[in-house]
Amino acid sequence: MPTLLFKPLLFSGLLFTSLLSYGQTPDINYDESKVPPYTLPDPLVTKAGKKVTTVRQWETGRRPELLKLFADNLYGRTPERRLKTRYEVRSVDSSALGGTAIRKQISVVWTEYPDLPSLELLLYVPKNRVGNNRPPVFVGLNYMGNHSITTEPGIALSTHWLPNRPDGKVVNNRATEAARGVQQSRWPLELIISKGYAVATAYYGDLEPDHPEGWKTGIRSVLDPPTTARPDSWQAIGVWAWGMSRMLDYLETDGLVDAKRAIVIGHSRQGKAALWAGAQDQRFAAVIANESGEGGAALSRRIYGETIERLNSSFPHWFCPQYRSYVNRPEALPVDQHELLALIAPRPLYVASAEGDRWADPKGEFLSARHTDPVYQLYGKKGIGIDTWPSVHQPVGETVRYHLRTGEHDVKRYDWEQFLDFAEKTIDRRQ
Ligand code: GCU
Repeated sequence: MPTLLFKPLLFSGLLFTSLLSYGQTPDINYDESKVPPYTLPDPLVTKAGKKVTTVRQWETGRRPELLKLFADNLYGRTPERRLKTRYEVRSVDSSALGGTAIRKQISVVWTEYPDLPSLELLLYVPKNRVGNNRPPVFVGLNYMGNHSITTEPGIALSTHWLPNRPDGKVVNNRATEAARGVQQSRWPLELIISKGYAVATAYYGDLEPDHPEGWKTGIRSVLDPPTTARPDSWQAIGVWAWGMSRMLDYLETDGLVDAKRAIVIGHSRQGKAALWAGAQDQRFAAVIANESGEGGAALSRRIYGETIERLNSSFPHWFCPQYRSYVNRPEALPVDQHELLALIAPRPLYVASAEGDRWADPKGEFLSARHTDPVYQLYGKKGIGIDTWPSVHQPVGETVRYHLRTGEHDVKRYDWEQFLDFAEKTIDRRQ
């Protein structure tokens, strides 16, 4: 039954790919002079055409309206049912990272569903925090398993499904010892810890393996499975976002960190998920989206780099079915991505791009951040504040901040340096 119902998704993916190879869909545009003109919807005008002028009108009317529009048209509806959980502390090492940090591993077990893979949390907490206040905590999912973010040997090797790697470090979809630290450059733990911040991470595939059949062994196998096939059925991005809120549920119970100052962070597809998590769950005190691109921070109506068509044909399991109806007609979407970013207001928001990541439309990410300004202004906050797309390594903005880094699609030390500086200037001041 599930397989049969899934076929239309796969089929539409194949159809789009073949149309593309016959040249019937427009090519990807990388030419600024060929970006067609577009008009963005106004975040401060309701569907009924009423102008929003107060925080109250925003919070009680327009904000919930926008949230629903994003659920209905992009990310799907997040189920309200709570899964029962049990937290099992697997290990505590109080002299991790050369004695600078406490490292904890915790399994989030879904007690009603013993066969469902657990969510394995890895938490690093600085020991050097000045004063006795508990540290703010970055919350983000990793791509290759907890063992991939550092070579510290005490970390359990993920036993869950992982994409195979051409370098032979993941074989038969299982991690090998050689996979330790393969993504450590994306998680500069020493730097983060030395600045007094904690980090909580988990492997995104614990929640749903990232392929079209992945839902069958993930959270969606028990919570609103796609067999219901509604236009607003949630898919993988929705599940990953939900998972970050479940990480925060755990952190609220752990006295080592200040869960009131949790910063949700994600790169690329996880940047899309982090934005959706931050939009829905206002317990996140700040949001960071690194190179999140189409369906993330980048404007959909600006035709540059990845398109809605390519996103859905390559990754049919990420967004809700309704999103596909906007292929080649982003102007029909009742929202654009600056309105997703505006749902973070008045909380601090960081949007980061890389020069070599044209696929994610760096300028479209900047403009999207810029167009949140009127909503931040409602709260008396200064957002980006300038119209000109800044050149590389020139971060701009206050409560909404943006930078363009040199180099490719990745998370670099430079990015973390900016994020840490931003966190220090915004949520860290709030003790
Ligand atoms: C692909 C996809 C992007 C996504 C990226 C990533 O390039 O098209 O939308 O952001 O993968 O997650 O690395």
